[in-house]
Amino acid sequence: MNKLKAGIVGCGKISGIYLQNLILNPELEVVACADLNLARARASAEEYGIPKACTPAELLADPAIDIVINLTIPAAHAEVCLQALEAGKHVYVEKPLAVTREEGQAILAKAAEKGRLVGSAPDTFLGGGIQTCIKLIEDGWIGVPVAASAFMIGRGHEHWHPDPEFYYAKGGGPMFDMGPYYLTALVAMLGPIRRVTGSAGISYPQRTITSQPKFGRTIQVETPTHIAGVIDFRSGAIGTIITSFDAFGGTELPRIEIYGSEGTLSVPDPNTFGGPVRVRRYDATEFSLMPLTHGFTDNCRGLGVLDMASALRQGRTNRANGELAYHVLEAMHGFHDASTHGKHYEMHSSCERPAPLKAGPARSIFD
Ligand SMILES: NC(=O)c1ccc[n+]([C@@H]2O[C@H](COP(=O)([O-])OP(=O)(O)OC[C@H]3O[C@@H](n4cnc5c(N)ncnc54)[C@H](O)[C@@H]3O)[C@@H](O)[C@H]2O)c1
Repeated sequence: MNKLKAGIVGCGKISGIYLQNLILNPELEVVACADLNLARARASAEEYGIPKACTPAELLADPAIDIVINLTIPAAHAEVCLQALEAGKHVYVEKPLAVTREEGQAILAKAAEKGRLVGSAPDTFLGGGIQTCIKLIEDGWIGVPVAASAFMIGRGHEHWHPDPEFYYAKGGGPMFDMGPYYLTALVAMLGPIRRVTGSAGISYPQRTITSQPKFGRTIQVETPTHIAGVIDFRSGAIGTIITSFDAFGGTELPRIEIYGSEGTLSVPDPNTFGGPVRVRRYDATEFSLMPLTHGFTDNCRGLGVLDMASALRQGRTNRANGELAYHVLEAMHGFHDASTHGKHYEMHSSCERPAPLKAGPARSIFD
């Protein structure tokens, strides 16, 4: 089998887990690392045994590369995706797909023009936790889903990330940073969104970095850091979502719950690949822990890239695809727009609910 070849653009914090996972898989070969900061590209290539470290332009010009894995910061997502597509590559980008809806649309249009695939994180919904939830819903464990709640409530990233500024710039904030995990999981379980509304605010206009090496520096906050939203799914189900970087004291709220006509499903953290998955049927007195029916329960970041490689071989749609990521991007903007304009935001885009994976052990799912 001729392995597809991939190149990574953006060798920062998240690139390590991608490289760690991708170099072990038989479907895809990572042949180059690139970064604006060439020292970072070199360090990654050396650490993971990647043959080439180069500039982003050199990587995009390399005819051997089929797939560009774009792990740059959100502000650079669209530019790097468009350049990769223009160069005839398929592209998989970290979340969010892009900062603005226009950029997201441009990426999808360029991919269609060039006949190339777009993939986008998150791919956590392909993990055993959410896939088990999808199966439980499809098997009728909670009856007809009528509502959902999702809570991503935390204190932000300036206490651990070495370069946390982008989380408070446009395209950052808890909705654009963490919303993709929650909204993608909800769409994978409940289908596409019809409209959204919400309120969004900046509780603290300045934040102080307490991580190294920028300890003590101030960040000016440019994007809402607490967003409370309501979602009408096309199915008729109604969702509630809060994403916050402003809860310095933490929370005791669950991550995601789905409420059905016959029971409630407690969904694991959608920023992870595994469990616990719990169900409480209408006649039960407590939640029961359910066995996971699917594999890929460890940190499998890069699974979406592998699904894309497999989709290319099989001539099918990749699951963590551009349409899904754009739908989520539009919804995230919708919450902010609704807050600004004081009315519901009607979604223009839709997407297919990604095809569930087959139940069973980890390596058999793409067969
Ligand atoms: N850090 C995490 O835990 C985490 C988790 C999940 C997803 N992500 C996502 O991964 C992406 C990267 O995050 P990170 O934490 O690794 O950021 P980072 O700042 O640590 O790394 C980003 C890298 O991209 C490089 N870069 C920026 N613009 C570039 C360009 N135009 N061309 C080439 N290289 C460029 C930077 O030099 C840097 O090395 C973001 O989209 C983020 O949302 C991060």
